[in-house]
Amino acid sequence: HFNKASYLMSAPTLALCPPETGVEVCFAGRSNAGKSSAINTLTNNGKLARTSKTPGRTQMINFFTLGNPDQRLVDLPGYGYAKVPLAMKIEWEKHLSQYLQERKSLAGMVLMMDVRHPLQEFDTTMINWAVSAEMPVHILLTKADKLKKGPAQTMLLNVRKHLKEAKADDLVSVQLFSSLKRTGLPELNVVLNRWFLG
Ligand code: GTP
Ligand code: MG
Repeated sequence: HFNKASYLMSAPTLALCPPETGVEVCFAGRSNAGKSSAINTLTNNGKLARTSKTPGRTQMINFFTLGNPDQRLVDLPGYGYAKVPLAMKIEWEKHLSQYLQERKSLAGMVLMMDVRHPLQEFDTTMINWAVSAEMPVHILLTKADKLKKGPAQTMLLNVRKHLKEAKADDLVSVQLFSSLKRTGLPELNVVLNRWFLG
């Protein structure tokens, strides 16, 4: 049913988000990691979430409904963009942590990390926040088309190993993904359907 997605609204802060009814899944990650592209690939709608070569494209919390307003996908602004002023960064991290820890309708987080450099600064903070809120996380190692099969698989195993060592592997899963080649889509669908159907 993800191809029924349509734009609902954008909110600059948690206070201005739509009511916390139903189920919502957020897409988070560093700026330029491929969050908006992943939403478009999942929904088979290239025009739904705005993508860009310029990091920092998505600046609001963007809500999409899946035909039913009580089922939502949320495209979050990226973090870690070097050109954003520090005060804005701190402000945004505060909003993010509030959204993750307080949003009652949030059933899970899809965390996007470029397969070539996963687990950067703040990625692990996001994982820790989610785990402390007992919220499941599904990591997409994006742009998998940029690596050959062997190196991509090695990155996947490295991230799995890290999660195991951090004792986060019961709440956090990880897979390879490419919006360009549409690889990893069935795996993502299984996870999201589980979250939406509870
Ligand atoms: P912000 O909104 O700025 O945080 O970025 P974002 O995470 O939403 O990234 P976005 O989806 O806009 O993609 C950033 C860039 O990466 C764009 O130029 C995309 O075309 C490119 N990109 C996204 N997914 C893939 C992929 O699977 N493969 C390749 N090769 N490029 C991709
Ligand atoms: Mg975006």
